[in-house]
Amino acid sequence: MTFSKFGEKFTRRSGIGQLMVDLGKANASNHPDLYMLGGGNPAAIADAQSLFQHEMEHLIQSGSFQSMLGLYDGPNGEQAFRDILAGFLNQEFGWGISAENICLTNGSQNSFFYLFNLLAGDMPDGSKKKILFPLAPEYVGYADAGLSEDMFASYRPRIEHLENRQFKYRVDFEHLEIGDDIAAICLSRPTNPTGNVVTDRELANLKALAEKNNIPLIIDNAYGQPFPNVIHSDATLQWDDNTVLCMSLSKLGLPGARTGIVIANEKITQALGALGGIITLAPNSVGAALLTRLIETGEINHLTQNIIKPHYNECLANALSLFDQILSDFPVHLHKPEGAFFMWLWIEGMKISSQELYQRLKARNVFVIPGEEFFIDIDPTWKHTQECIRINYSQPKEKLKRGFEILAQELQKVT
Ligand SMILES: Cc1ncc(COP(=O)(O)O)c(C=O)c1O
Repeated sequence: MTFSKFGEKFTRRSGIGQLMVDLGKANASNHPDLYMLGGGNPAAIADAQSLFQHEMEHLIQSGSFQSMLGLYDGPNGEQAFRDILAGFLNQEFGWGISAENICLTNGSQNSFFYLFNLLAGDMPDGSKKKILFPLAPEYVGYADAGLSEDMFASYRPRIEHLENRQFKYRVDFEHLEIGDDIAAICLSRPTNPTGNVVTDRELANLKALAEKNNIPLIIDNAYGQPFPNVIHSDATLQWDDNTVLCMSLSKLGLPGARTGIVIANEKITQALGALGGIITLAPNSVGAALLTRLIETGEINHLTQNIIKPHYNECLANALSLFDQILSDFPVHLHKPEGAFFMWLWIEGMKISSQELYQRLKARNVFVIPGEEFFIDIDPTWKHTQECIRINYSQPKEKLKRGFEILAQELQKVT
């Protein structure tokens, strides 16, 4: 049997796919001394979970359970939920949008697959277009989401050194060029893997560049406002007709509900609905049903402000103190943690690659994510691409501490 080009492209071994296999195997082993500091799962926050459970019970008792699971929604997602969400976003941010500006998908990963391939790749006039990531490292899930080869372009960051052995990646506007082959600009804000929050000023510059070149600006807001709001710096959330804002319920604690939300002009939301109709008929209804009342009553703000934010703030404070206590003798820099729940460590001058460090840690049951794969389209000979690792710090305190201790033992040998 021979696979098509599509089959070949989407089944080929990818670095991140292998890591996911590793994580899955490790989780399934139920080993008592596992330190899972790798994956992107949100923290299991008891108060958030009981709130979702309560909503599910309400859906069952009120009879809405049947309509949630027993009907296909339209391809853009349930109308009532989109109406309520549009009203909420207008109230919070004054955007003046309607349900027609909202399309639901089966998770952000699904949104990006649609968006990237809608806008870039092989164009009707025979040209090829790309999605531009203005600031690599970027979310690794974008890297393989193109139907054609070579669909992404990106730029190295400018590195700004800060106090307390921290640094921040900045968009290098001096070198950033947007040619005719660029179909859209895309960035995650807060950024996975680095925890960066591109500043309002940088975002305004990117927005102006997008407008000037008549291409959309896609903002991946999976960790941002208004939910889950895992953001520790001051940043303004913006939307306009030329912005495509992607949200998700995953980091709120509902990755299994597979719900992505795209807010865009109607040409884009209608196109996404058309794609969804063909590819999945309709988006999952569970996430929308679970969130409807929380948004309508404003309880979503209680969830994010009083439950989710304090939890991640505490995780971050703990992670920072471990960084200071355990890694202070090593040439390790930390990306300023402004959002999401990752620590991005740069081990400057490390004698081995981060892939090799990953293998050594894995042999000791500590799972981190090596940095190489996040430098999408960046020259791999740039040493920095091999000197970074991502740690998910939303793990139980003891596990994180032990994981850091083992990391320090391994760093002793290679720094
Ligand atoms: C920045 C970013 N975007 C998108 C996604 C995909 O999220 P979803 O579960 O909504 O598909 C993730 C998941 O880790 C992410 O970190």
